Amino acid sequence: MKNIKVLVTRKWPKNVETKLSQTFNVKLNNSDKPLTELELIKAMQDYDALLPTVTDKISDNVISCENRKVKVIGNFGVGFNNIDIDSAKKNQVVVTNTPEVLTDCTADIAMLLMLGIARRASEGEPHVRNSEWSGWRPTHMMGTKVTGKILGLVGMGRIAQAVAQKSHFGFGMKIIYFDPYFKDEKIKEKFSAKSCNSIDELLSEADFVSLHCPSTPETQGLINNDKLKKMKQSGYLINTARGDIVVEDDLISALRNNLIQGAGLDVFLNEPNVPEGLRNLSNVFLLPHLGSATEETREAMGMRVFSNLTSFFDGKEPVDRVV
Ligand code: DGY
Repeated sequence: MKNIKVLVTRKWPKNVETKLSQTFNVKLNNSDKPLTELELIKAMQDYDALLPTVTDKISDNVISCENRKVKVIGNFGVGFNNIDIDSAKKNQVVVTNTPEVLTDCTADIAMLLMLGIARRASEGEPHVRNSEWSGWRPTHMMGTKVTGKILGLVGMGRIAQAVAQKSHFGFGMKIIYFDPYFKDEKIKEKFSAKSCNSIDELLSEADFVSLHCPSTPETQGLINNDKLKKMKQSGYLINTARGDIVVEDDLISALRNNLIQGAGLDVFLNEPNVPEGLRNLSNVFLLPHLGSATEETREAMGMRVFSNLTSFFDGKEPVDRVV
């Protein structure tokens, strides 16, 4: 397949870059600098395949460009809201993603955020580092107990189920969820979970609300002031899905005014820009989109893209084809 020209938009794990280079005619991005829209358009005209990631906006402008050569877009990521899917469909460009391989690691980060914010780890760690800790005392930095609490999952896909597995069996949490598209009674029974009839029902009952829905027109801005008001005042919001599911300004004011107790966030509206309003709050635990960031997972994601690409150019259906 050495005659097939492939462009990788960011730096990928070494083993995957090597494998791609052994198989295709690959242009890597050793500088790891994001491509501009103009560079993406040029890439669409010069290459047979584009391998972008969540930081590349593959808009209609990019996909519908004149003299497009790219036939397949192999996204490095399970979420593909960075790609205009309608435009890909219209232009008959195949798009693939990387499901399954990042499920556990993303669920681990949701657990970390939940424990970190409830047990005030993000506040405590700098105390030790900056020599501000004056010693153990009965009322020092008391947080909230996680074990046995109610976890509300918004969306009940793979990552939500992995969070349910860890929190129900590991932390004795009661699982409730809201997902109008999820109908698997066996999974529901496995976690002794309750399916909520509305998101409001979930928000008012959960001690921790964890978001696990994709970013779609239906879910963008879902968690706004009105919804935050429905949460318990002692409740926590956890987001490892996408930043645009939450109205960030509404969340900041809910946290400032103690409408909710705290939030653990791995994703933001305009990454990597995190509003000062959030950064200044002590009742948030903030991470830089680390959900899938382990050596094992990132390599597995890359290998998944590789196998989707080889299938496509072998004339087979890529397993992770989304359009
Ligand atoms: C994804 O895959 O969608 C993550 O957000 C990045 O790992």
